Amino acid sequence: MDTSHSRRRGYIFLLVLSYSSVLGLASNMNISSNDARGNKTDSFFEDQYAYTHYGTDMGKEYIICAESTMESPWVLGCNKSKEVFTKINFADYGDPSGKCEHYRHGNCGAEAALKVAKKNCVGKNICVFMTSDEMFGASHCNKEAKFFIQLTCKKA
Ligand SMILES: *[C@@H]1O[C@H](CO)[C@@H](O)[C@H](O)[C@H]1NC(C)=O
Ligand SMILES: *[C@@H]1O[C@H](CO)[C@@H](O)[C@H](O)[C@H]1NC(C)=O
Ligand SMILES: *[C@@H]1O[C@H](CO)[C@@H](O)[C@H](O)[C@H]1NC(C)=O
Repeated sequence: MDTSHSRRRGYIFLLVLSYSSVLGLASNMNISSNDARGNKTDSFFEDQYAYTHYGTDMGKEYIICAESTMESPWVLGCNKSKEVFTKINFADYGDPSGKCEHYRHGNCGAEAALKVAKKNCVGKNICVFMTSDEMFGASHCNKEAKFFIQLTCKKA
């Protein structure tokens, strides 16, 4: 449908939605049309990403991780509709590094990231994020902030 989808192919449970579709304000899903900035939405997305990774399956629970710089809303969900997030193991909006289950904080970051993530996700089947100061507060990083999160999903 558009190149931003093909760039993220393979990340099935991560849906990339436009603001308007998340907010339910508009039915126009044609994200290759021009946005309000007068540039293609595609060029607006060009260097942004949102990936999911799967970690350990503990039997009744399993680990899911996401790494994103995507400023527009993106959705993270447990694999199945009756499963819920029970725990946020890690959340950092700033300069996190490492791999799923081995994430580390950098030397900058928004203090509220974990709190915001808990509020958005715990007890829910999906959660919506925007990788932006608007969502998490100032990152105090000199460069573009990224968001890494590790959660536990409880099987239904
Ligand atoms: C959708 O995008 C195509 C290609 O850019 C354009 O030709 C078409 O008019 C757009 N449709 C709407 C409803 O904006
Ligand atoms: C469109 O994008 C180009 C290249 O990123 C930029 O130079 C230009 O100012 C943008 N135009 C508008 C109207 O935002
Ligand atoms: C969740 O879905 C991913 C992607 O299809 C898969 O690799 C993983 O094994 C699944 N995990 C569980 C516990 O269902």
